[in-house]
Amino acid sequence: MEATFFTGKRPWSKIKDQILGQYMPAYLAKVSKLGKPIILIDAFAGPAKFDDGSPGSPLIICHAAERLVQDRYLAIFVNKEQDQHEKLSYILSRFIDQNRVHPILGNADAILGWVHEILEDQTVFLYLDPFGLKGCEFSAIEPFLKRDKAFSTEIIINLSIPIMHRLAARHAVAAGRSDNSRIRAYHEQLTQVLGGEYWKDILLDGSMDPEKKAVNIMEIYREKMIKVVEPNGFSGSCPVREKVGSRLKSYVTFYSRHQDALVLMNDAMCQAYHQRMNEAWSENTLFENMNWQENRETLKLEDIILTTARQSPYKSRSDLWVEIIQNHFMQYTAKEYRASVKKLVNDKKLEFEDVKGTGRLNNQVRLYLPEGS
Ligand SMILES: C[S@@+](CC[C@H](N)C(=O)[O-])C[C@H]1O[C@@H](n2cnc3c(N)ncnc32)[C@H](O)[C@@H]1O
Repeated sequence: MEATFFTGKRPWSKIKDQILGQYMPAYLAKVSKLGKPIILIDAFAGPAKFDDGSPGSPLIICHAAERLVQDRYLAIFVNKEQDQHEKLSYILSRFIDQNRVHPILGNADAILGWVHEILEDQTVFLYLDPFGLKGCEFSAIEPFLKRDKAFSTEIIINLSIPIMHRLAARHAVAAGRSDNSRIRAYHEQLTQVLGGEYWKDILLDGSMDPEKKAVNIMEIYREKMIKVVEPNGFSGSCPVREKVGSRLKSYVTFYSRHQDALVLMNDAMCQAYHQRMNEAWSENTLFENMNWQENRETLKLEDIILTTARQSPYKSRSDLWVEIIQNHFMQYTAKEYRASVKKLVNDKKLEFEDVKGTGRLNNQVRLYLPEGS
């Protein structure tokens, strides 16, 4: 798989590229206002372009940075493969000459080991997209999670789920081979990457569905990340798979200290996942060119809005949305939320206090349920 990875982009890879492509411009537009130098680190960078010409993460990152923060960013692209490092250096030579891109031939873990030591007050974005799990030890990201909360720090990490299952080696353990040195090394790697032994109860459970196991692992992993410093940060994950019902390839997880990232990522991940699932499902059918947003079921969202507004009355429309996506991450877009709020107001199932006195629904209106409902 690794040998042919860069020949052409796998359809499911589009999910992570789209997340990055949609998130970067919105993120950079926001952090540019902080006025700090911006450091963008892609620790498993690849050659920047696939053989079929499609852009890899370094190009996606550079395009957004050139457009939005041209004079204020430094992008660090790490790769341990000489040929890929050279290809990237050639493709990005213009930006390298201008000292905005710094390619490094080396090991991600070594570089992550020292780079945090030279960070001061910069805005930092860290992208980790390895082939498997190696190089993504929790201790490698911990110094970033622990940075002073006054400084903007964001992480996107893509963790392979089949490799987690393989390293857990459940069948070998069930057959009594957990003391085998290879299995012990596998388990140690899982513990290092996931930041604890909690995976054992989950991945070694013979009765749990593999998909459920992955959901549980990622939930605890996110909890661990957001709780490293007070006040807690924000995190969410997007599954990557070929089509609905097919095996999970990986989970893309983000971490940020800022609530805005949760809102932006909710939209980016919702769109990337559902659009790709729709494309895979409709390929070579009459529905091939149908927009993924058509026929989306939002009745459940209306119920969610009413339940949340009942529990937390008089919250602003934007704060209620944040509460909803904390519990239902990636399921609906902000556009669908606004449309559902409008419909509920028109149907007189929801009322609003017009804080700004504009007579219209906006982010500041406070939402509550009509008396007696
Ligand atoms: C999944 S690919 C990344 C693809 C890239 N994000 C893109 O969109 O093109 C993983 C890359 O990490 C590189 N790599 C693997 N192990 C590494 C390590 N320990 N340190 C640095 N790079 C590594 C591989 O050579 C490969 O280019």
